[in-house]
Parts: sequence; C-alpha cells; structure tokens
Amino acid sequence: MGREKIGSALVGYGTTFNWGWTHGHWIEAVEDLRLIAVCTRTAESAARARRDFPRVDTYTDLGQMLRRDDIELVSVLTPHHTHAAITIECLNAGKHVIVDKAMAITVAECDRMIEAAERADRTLAVFHNRRHDGNIRAITDVIRQGAIGQVFHAEFFAGGYRAPGSGWYDDEAASGGALYTYGPHVVDWLSLWVPAPPQQVMGFDHKLVWRQSSNADHAQAIIRYENGCVAEITVSRLAYLGKPQWTILGTQGAIIDTAQGALAGYMRDAIGPSAGSFRLRTAEGEREIPYRESDWVTYYVDMANHLRRGAPVPVTAEEGRRSIAVLEAAARSAKRGQPQQLSAPGVPATW
Ligand SMILES: NC(=O)c1ccc[n+]([C@@H]2O[C@H](COP(=O)([O-])OP(=O)(O)OC[C@H]3O[C@@H](n4cnc5c(N)ncnc54)[C@H](O)[C@@H]3O)[C@@H](O)[C@H]2O)c1
Repeated sequence: MGREKIGSALVGYGTTFNWGWTHGHWIEAVEDLRLIAVCTRTAESAARARRDFPRVDTYTDLGQMLRRDDIELVSVLTPHHTHAAITIECLNAGKHVIVDKAMAITVAECDRMIEAAERADRTLAVFHNRRHDGNIRAITDVIRQGAIGQVFHAEFFAGGYRAPGSGWYDDEAASGGALYTYGPHVVDWLSLWVPAPPQQVMGFDHKLVWRQSSNADHAQAIIRYENGCVAEITVSRLAYLGKPQWTILGTQGAIIDTAQGALAGYMRDAIGPSAGSFRLRTAEGEREIPYRESDWVTYYVDMANHLRRGAPVPVTAEEGRRSIAVLEAAARSAKRGQPQQLSAPGVPATW
C-alpha cells in the first residue's frame, strides 16, 4: 500500500510568471505529493489559488499555516530579499523547504538558512529546476561524453533593448541586482560543465539610460575557475543587438546555442517538447544536436524520493549558496572596481 502523500504548501502566489500555479501543477503531477495550502499576502491572490486548486486552504498569515502538522514541505516563491527570513521561519516550524532561486541575496543569509536547516534537522533544497531544460540536458550530455574536450571558455548572454518594469525584479534591494534573475541558473549550469570551483570574479555594471529602476541596465560577471576556465555572464537591457545565449569553447570542439524554443511549454508543462537544437563543431565537422525533452517535474519527483526514500537532495543548499557567492562577489567587484577572490591558497573559501 502507498504511504500517505507528502502535504505540500506554497508561500507566494505571484502573477509575473504565474509561478504559484506552475509549482502547484508540478507538485500535483507527482504521485507522492499533494498541494494542500498556499500562503499569500492578498485576498485576491488567495482567491486565485483557490480557483486554480479548489482543494487548497489559503492563509495570509505564514505562522498560522506553519502550525499545521500535515504540511511537511514548503516551497518559497517570494521576492529574493524575503527568502532568508521566510525559509528560516519554515525550517524553525519543522518543515522541509524548497526555496526558489536566487537562494538569497548574500552568502551570510545563505549561511543562516543552512544553519537553521541543520538545527531543525530538516532538508533545505534550492529550486534549480532548470538543470532539466532540454537544451541544458543536451549540452551537458555532449560535454560529459567528452565531445568538446575540456571546457576552457563559456559566454552566456540574455537580454535586448527593453525598459525595465517597476516591480521588485528591477529593484536592486529586493532582487539583488540585474544578475540575480538569470545569474543563479547560469552559475548552476556552469557547475555541470566546469569541474572546478570559481576562484575569482570581476563584475561590471552600466547605468546609462533607464532611470526608473535601481538595477544596472547592463551587467556582466567574469568568473575565473580554479582549472583556468573563464566564464562570462552578460544580462542587458541596452543591447540593440544580442548574441547567442551560449558560446562554449573546449579543447576539442565548440558549442553555440541560441536557446531558441528551449523553454517551449515552460509555464504550462511538466514535460516539454524538444523544440530546437544547438550547433556543435569538432574536428569531424559541424552538426546540429537536437535538444532533449525538458522535464521540469523531475525536480519534485527527486524531492519526494529524497523525503520518502532517502534519495539525494535534488539541489542542495550548498549548491544554491555557490551561485550566490559568485553573484555577490560580482556585485561587490562592480561597486569597488576590483576583482574579488573566492578561493585561493591561504584565502578562506567563501564558496
Ligand atoms: N526557477 C525558475 O525558473 C523561476 C521562474 C520564475 C520565478 N522564479 C523565482 O520565483 C520567485 C517568485 O517570483 P515571481 O515571479 O513569482 O514573483 P511575483 O512578484 O510574481 O510573486 C511573488 C509573490 O510573493 C508574495 N510576497 C511578496 N513578499 C512577500 C512576503 N514578505 N511574504 C509572503 N509573500 C510575499 C507576493 O504577494 C506574490 O504573491 C523568485 O525567487 C523568482 O526568482 C524562478
């Protein structure tokens, strides 16, 4: 006989990406999980949650929701600057937590979250679900098969020429800065391809045009890894012309990926169509490699297997912290105009 399902709850039910709805559907797609509660700040979003999932109870008081014994797992889907306090409150109430990226804004916050999880003996996982994007899965396969040799250079670009909005994503104090939306995914993806820790980070910010937001208009981080690999992350609201999302150079080949179609179905589907391909060039010539199927529900399957069957945590808090260490160092470097050391002989590792 099957065991009781894991009672799951959400904190945050926003409209920017319908993210509460999306998490709710991914949770409900997993045999072992059941969405039973949602905590929001407004009656309007509570009503939306009840309309989308008629079985759930809604709360506007987190403490009240956390008093329920039948909630084992809480997913935190709120703005970045609230992640640490909400996550710690959930852990202190004895719940396991999945905190969406960015794990937090500072390494100090991440450390407090990790300490709270250890004290409460609960699992804290970070929602780097996008390891399961079809393009990332296909690129990871090719790199791990050794097709391009050792990766020594990687460039990531996202953006265009667009004005920022007025919400928290564009407010540096709430978001962490321009790099904190895409950056956590990018540093996480790079960790799949570069078998070494980041050693040094340089950050560059441009604030030249858009005055309605505090985030930089164009931000860049350059990361040097301990094995010599250099990665560059650029996000821009000032790029009249862009670049492919990925250019990855290895000692025996190269990859260019526009990521066109890679997120087909992202906000709707658990399993997404393979909707594109990337270019691979090696000594044998050039060819298109089709994306694998995206599979975003896998993250919650892995979390359920961890909680019920002792399988590994899908993405650990220490892995989530790694992205924040890089992004916080990039922000500090941009402000000070100096490279920031993350690890070196004699330098305490902040990563
Ligand atoms: N993994 C991914 O691919 C992915 C995609 C989209 C968003 N996200 C992440 O999900 C999180 C939420 O993003 P979003 O786009 O849904 O934002 P949003 O602004 O649309 O929604 C945020 C929600 O949090 C609530 N909220 C705000 N402050 C709160 C507080 N102090 N206490 C309780 N609730 C509070 C808001 O009322 C709202 O319901 C962010 O961390 C974001 O980076 C991840």
